[in-house]
Amino acid sequence: MTGPAPFPTALTELTGVRYPIVQTGMGWVAGPRLVSASANAGALGILASATMTVEQLRAAVREVKSRTDAPFGVNLRADAGDAGERVRIIIDEEVRVASFALAPSKDLIARLKDAGVVVIPSIGARRHAEKVAAWGADAVMVQGGEGGGHTGDVATTVLLPQVVDAVGIPVIAAGGFHDGRGLVAALAYGAAGIGMGTRFLLTSDSTVPDAVKAKYLAATVKDVTVTTRVDGLPHRMLRTAMVDSLERSGRATSLLRALRHASAFRKESGASWRRLVRDGLAMKHGKELTWSQVLLAANTPMLLKASLVEGRTDIGVMASGQVAGLIEDLPSCSELVERIMDEARAALKSLPGAD
Ligand SMILES: Cc1cc2nc3c(=O)[nH]c(=O)nc-3n(C[C@H](O)[C@H](O)[C@H](O)COP(=O)(O)O)c2cc1C
Repeated sequence: MTGPAPFPTALTELTGVRYPIVQTGMGWVAGPRLVSASANAGALGILASATMTVEQLRAAVREVKSRTDAPFGVNLRADAGDAGERVRIIIDEEVRVASFALAPSKDLIARLKDAGVVVIPSIGARRHAEKVAAWGADAVMVQGGEGGGHTGDVATTVLLPQVVDAVGIPVIAAGGFHDGRGLVAALAYGAAGIGMGTRFLLTSDSTVPDAVKAKYLAATVKDVTVTTRVDGLPHRMLRTAMVDSLERSGRATSLLRALRHASAFRKESGASWRRLVRDGLAMKHGKELTWSQVLLAANTPMLLKASLVEGRTDIGVMASGQVAGLIEDLPSCSELVERIMDEARAALKSLPGAD
């Protein structure tokens, strides 16, 4: 591989990648093309599996393997009814990293680690990081509130040092990163690398339709909002007429929409109603969610798919970090990663006191 020299950190040592940069798992976006391009660029590419059936996941993993020899990961929902089958695929196919959207159980972590898989849950609060670290996770990815998709309300600049101080395992910083300065800042906080979602969505290797990418590029920081009206959980996305209408609609409309999407997602994912309800119950557990929100939560993927795959931004949503407001181009993954590493080295040299 050509490009800037390797940049070893605890993250690169743990996972075997060249640079301390993670292309995070994003439903409908982080498919084989983006993941293999990220891996070939020297970053850790993570395949998003929550929007794939089990068979599609196996095929996607094999496709990535056919396009790259570099390590990569798979992101999954620990609370999915078929998480066990997905873990089986990760182990059988010798995928290097398992990334989790919600904290995995102690048993799941142990099963993966026994098989030599590196376990990196994503978390949005210190106590979750402490819990998964105590259960044996190899590293954690922390996502600050400015990050895209489901998100918390503590900013990366506050959450990151809090988690770095609380756990003894490598911490990957996510939420708001797009350049080499950000990487150096994260390393200065004690992180082992950065994870980026929105920045990788906005590359020429991402399969998101060009007209949709143009909407992200045109967005200012103020055009990115958080709504709970999609599925009851805070979800960061571009503000559109669709989001405004979700915010205005009453309970009956929400429930109808939820049922429609539940039915579509059931067909799409091959999930039975029983499984949807079981997943919904797991999601409802301990949270103040109405059944219509639970149904929608199981079907947020349909709203994302409408925009990110079909280009129907009038009926779909576009998950996005605030950082979309700073991004203005669509480099390839290798151009992006090289640029970030060059910027990071320049930023390190320009620090006061650096020789
Ligand atoms: C379009 C989109 C889809 C996402 N889907 C998922 C997902 O399926 N699983 C997950 O753990 N995180 C998901 N996320 C969150 C990202 O993995 C990542 O943590 C976040 O984008 C980081 O913040 P940034 O956008 O500021 O880089 C998604 C984010 C976006 C923008």
